[in-house]
Amino acid sequence: MSSFLAFLHHVAAFAFVAALVVEFVLIRDELTLKTARRLPLVDLVAGASAGVVLIVGAIRVMYFEKGADYYLHSAPFVAKMSLFVSIALLSIFPTIEFLTWLKPVGQGQLPVVNEGKKRLLRAIIHAELALVVLLILCAALMARGVGYFG
Ligand code: HEM
Repeated sequence: MSSFLAFLHHVAAFAFVAALVVEFVLIRDELTLKTARRLPLVDLVAGASAGVVLIVGAIRVMYFEKGADYYLHSAPFVAKMSLFVSIALLSIFPTIEFLTWLKPVGQGQLPVVNEGKKRLLRAIIHAELALVVLLILCAALMARGVGYFG
């Protein structure tokens, strides 16, 4: 069971990072009806995979691996959770923005997005990707007992 959950955690984490990269690439290009249709869908994949990562991660913390007591005394684990929450908060704005695109896109119209908003969306998704890199470093450190303060 522990191996299966580790597998699931990795698959969901990879899916999340892949979805973020796709979002970053799509938002960098000229907005077309095709990309405006794809971005809310890719964002849904990112949200769903983040949900799986969170649920599976929490089960591993509570019932498998090193036990909840270990993780609560691990500085990289605390940092990893803080980064996860920061990424979740950062993702709120792009998600709300992409949801507003559904109506015009459904009517075959291109959503109106000015250059300032596009730049902000790009910067936010870029920041999310940068934080994910730090989060993966924290994952490797916590798995190896670095920064344990028990
Ligand atoms: C996008 C978010 C996340 C990513 C990319 C991620 C990535 C990873 C990676 C790569 C590992 C393997 C580390 C290694 O063995 O070297 C790992 C392990 C783990 N992660 Fe995550 N993780 C994420 C979120 C979470 C969350 C939210 C939780 C808890 C609620 C969590 C709990 C765990 C646990 C318990 C392990 C096992 C560590 C050990 O072997 O002691 N992860 N994670």
